[in-house]
Amino acid sequence: MSYAIVGFGAVGQALARAFARKNIEVVVASRRPPEALAPQARAIGPKVLAKSLRDAVEADTIILAVPFGEHREVAKALPNWEDKTIIDATNAFGTPPEELDGLPSSAFVAKAFTGARLVKGFNHLVAAILAADPIVEGGHRVVFLSSDDEDAIAPVAALAKQLGFAPIMLGKLTEGGALVHARGRIWGPLIFQDLFKKEQ
Ligand SMILES: NC(=O)c1ccc[n+]([C@@H]2O[C@H](COP(=O)([O-])OP(=O)(O)OC[C@H]3O[C@@H](n4cnc5c(N)ncnc54)[C@H](OP(=O)(O)O)[C@@H]3O)[C@@H](O)[C@H]2O)c1
Repeated sequence: MSYAIVGFGAVGQALARAFARKNIEVVVASRRPPEALAPQARAIGPKVLAKSLRDAVEADTIILAVPFGEHREVAKALPNWEDKTIIDATNAFGTPPEELDGLPSSAFVAKAFTGARLVKGFNHLVAAILAADPIVEGGHRVVFLSSDDEDAIAPVAALAKQLGFAPIMLGKLTEGGALVHARGRIWGPLIFQDLFKKEQ
């Protein structure tokens, strides 16, 4: 299995740290050329490899860590995404629901990646928490996964486990998945729960 992270900002780098912690190779890419990302990639770990977007999308599993509206641009990198798994870590917070054809944001994203298996995941933790070791006081930090494609979730859950997280399957995007979807200016009940708890 090969992995890439598209988007190398707060979330992309946090996830790259999770891969580096377990010594799992991961390609990282953004709109900037690989040379611009390489110093930061190397600083995270020797198996975090900066490549072009075109090369990154050769991976089997691609984590989407770009601003929500940019998913369409990333989707243009391939005419067809068959045999690829997209892990959608984006949130559409602030995007009016009527701009999403009434769909949960990840179902809207899935439309752009023709043929891909899409799993929503890793979107509910703030980047600083996502970057930290998920093994906390002997427990494993939870990641919520949801998908309309039943077969897609198992390999993503296996990856989450490999990275040290405890995956919780929420079911379809419109069912349990709704708990981790931002809608308009409202967060799903499970999003950023840790942060809200600390602020209360
Ligand atoms: N920040 C958080 O705590 C957090 C937590 C959970 C989920 N999220 C979600 O995760 C996503 C990323 O958030 P972030 O905070 O990591 O954003 P960010 O720090 O602004 O990083 C976004 C990254 O995406 C790249 N990018 C933008 N457009 C691109 C394109 N068309 N193709 C390839 N790369 C592109 C940018 O690099 P270039 O400018 O070099 O292209 C940058 O590396 C958002 O959807 C956000 O809602 C954020």
